Amino acid sequence: MEKNEIKHLQKAKNILEARGISKHYGGIKALDDVDLVLRDGEVLAVVGDNGAGKSTLVKAITGAISRTSGTILFDGEEVRIDSPTDAKAVGIETVYQDLALVNEISITKNIFLGREIVKDNILGRVFGVLDFKKMDTETRDLFKKLDIRIADIYRDAQAFSGGQRQAVALSKTVLFGKRIAILDEPTAALGVRESKMAMDLVASLKDHGLSVIMITHNMQHVMNYCDRVMVLRLGRLVAVRDVKDVDGDTLVGLITGANKSKVA
Ligand SMILES: Nc1ncnc2c1ncn2[C@@H]1O[C@H](COP(=O)(O)OP(=O)(O)O)[C@@H](O)[C@H]1O
Ligand SMILES: [Mg+2]
Repeated sequence: MEKNEIKHLQKAKNILEARGISKHYGGIKALDDVDLVLRDGEVLAVVGDNGAGKSTLVKAITGAISRTSGTILFDGEEVRIDSPTDAKAVGIETVYQDLALVNEISITKNIFLGREIVKDNILGRVFGVLDFKKMDTETRDLFKKLDIRIADIYRDAQAFSGGQRQAVALSKTVLFGKRIAILDEPTAALGVRESKMAMDLVASLKDHGLSVIMITHNMQHVMNYCDRVMVLRLGRLVAVRDVKDVDGDTLVGLITGANKSKVA
């Protein structure tokens, strides 16, 4: 096979496919028969007005809420993702919109929350004594690798700025997300400079081998950092586009419903 053909095949590979995802709350169709395809190595933007179903889509895919219907394929194989633990097990790490970090615990503890490292001796194996030294070292290594400048990893998360906190949350996707990072509005609470910092970090996730799904309201971020974009409106998928084929105005039209579109 020619090198180009191999490249083409690799490019076409879908790492994640969610088919016919619906979530109904009583009579409300928060999400109605939505398909999502994430290609290997891309950054896929999910855009839509408030209430369009973006967060619900992410939660339904990652098992944070139960689906009314829908199937999920990972690397072309159907997988069961019925809980966040299932999602993590296949290599999906998610940063949810509001619960990125726990305020009252240190940065290191936040990084390893639920995945603490125990000491590699009898104290660890029998009594579950935690290896804070190792966790601190890994946290420092991670921040160095990602150029995150947080020196005092012992301080509670609440002592840091929104940008720093988001950086910490994003860094967890590199440490634990083996294949996919899903980010729900990673810059929503950030100022301009902090947003830039967070988005540069999002861009670097790709270099660390992750495929990315990012929910955002920021059209500039879609145009500058994403490969493809899907538009949700009132719980339905209304368009999927290559970013190079759209402009911000067209996207806004699709989001508000001023532009009608067939899903391409
Ligand atoms: N737990 C819930 N119970 C009832 N309706 C919900 C619930 N969660 C979300 N919804 C509804 O689902 C729709 C989509 O919400 P959401 O996914 O949060 O939108 P987005 O993230 O795009 O702003 C909204 O109309 C919202 O009110
Ligand atoms: Mg949301």
